[in-house]
Amino acid sequence: MNHKIRLGILGGGGDSLIGGVHRIASNMFDRYQIVGGCFNPNPTENNEFAAHIGIPLNRVYDNFDLLIEEEMKLPEAERMEVISVLTPNFLHFPMAKKLLEHGFNVICEKPLTTTSAEALELEKMQAEKQVVFAVTYTYTGYPMVRQMKQMIAAGAIGNVQKVDLQYYQGWINPIIHDTHQRKTVWRLDPDKGGMSCCVGDIGTHAFDMVEYVTNLRVKQLLADLNYRYPDNQMDVDGTILVRFSDYCKGVLRVSQIATAEENNFTVQIYGETGGFKWSQENPNYLTYLQEGKPMQVLKPGYDFLSDFAKEATKLPPGHPEGMYDAMGNIYNGVAKAIRGEKFTHGSFPDLEEGVRGMHFIEKVLESHKNGNVWVNL
Ligand SMILES: NC(=O)c1ccc[n+]([C@@H]2O[C@H](COP(=O)([O-])OP(=O)(O)OC[C@H]3O[C@@H](n4cnc5c(N)ncnc54)[C@H](O)[C@@H]3O)[C@@H](O)[C@H]2O)c1
Repeated sequence: MNHKIRLGILGGGGDSLIGGVHRIASNMFDRYQIVGGCFNPNPTENNEFAAHIGIPLNRVYDNFDLLIEEEMKLPEAERMEVISVLTPNFLHFPMAKKLLEHGFNVICEKPLTTTSAEALELEKMQAEKQVVFAVTYTYTGYPMVRQMKQMIAAGAIGNVQKVDLQYYQGWINPIIHDTHQRKTVWRLDPDKGGMSCCVGDIGTHAFDMVEYVTNLRVKQLLADLNYRYPDNQMDVDGTILVRFSDYCKGVLRVSQIATAEENNFTVQIYGETGGFKWSQENPNYLTYLQEGKPMQVLKPGYDFLSDFAKEATKLPPGHPEGMYDAMGNIYNGVAKAIRGEKFTHGSFPDLEEGVRGMHFIEKVLESHKNGNVWVNL
């Protein structure tokens, strides 16, 4: 089958942060065609935006329910095959649930839902429906992250013993100190963002990343969160100790009030014989440390890299690839799964990772609320 996969999009309108990343990513390997969607809950803005990006208006719907109703009337060969959910968090579950009920493949933004019970319900439905479900932890799509994952699995640093991940942003700092403004941001509103802001928004990226690259599972955690003001219900900063075992431990440090930081996500993994350091703001450089040997810096595009990293790189060495490319690699993995082609495990984050992310958020909040105690995950 060589026709493009028919993609629908929910959210991700002209006013959104992540919509453009998904649209460009879906085009990157010539595997998808955006055929319609509902990009914005305001019908005028929805249509104007769809016209602006060149989507025929006959499949641009005023709301999500109408999209399902009308798409289900189309013959299967014309119907959307996969739908990306790019709306604020509280809409992920009702949208993904209805999409699964009607047999669509789903690409959903993180955090997957607003509770782990919802996430588990999606997992159960997906197992019944046997459709593809991806959760876009974007950073797993970078070639050098995939290289790190493969090298750790191949024993390049020995058994992992220490992890230290930092995800520091500063964008909430000016907002949190303004009593009016902090009531206008959906990520700080529990009705729209879910139970957590910082941990849900970026802590989940750090959590997914540490399990993705180490191929290990966090067993226990202890969290200390900062809400900054008594009337603010959502965490904006946190330090989370994690244990994989008695002999492998570490920390996830996450903040959205790390003043003037941009998107400073760094990953440091240390094993018995070496370590890796990678930073999202310079994603083409992977530092490889080895006991008693000179430090190496690995970059994309070289033959000596793993096949998994090479297939995630489109250009010869020296041509930087960034966040759009990382998301493009995830869309490429999803395309392979939808078309029944062979793909490397880890080519796209799956529902299990989405469910783990929701358990993680709940356990972090439980640990903090119970007086910063160790909890099992
Ligand atoms: N993977 C990543 O790295 C990453 C980065 C940013 C955001 N996100 C996630 O993406 C999601 C969206 O975040 P954002 O920053 O783009 O939000 P945003 O507020 O910038 O955009 C949300 C979009 O959804 C639309 N929308 C709202 N309600 C809708 C409805 N009922 N029907 C259709 N469209 C609707 C809005 O009009 C807007 O276009 C969140 O879940 C967020 O956590 C992920």
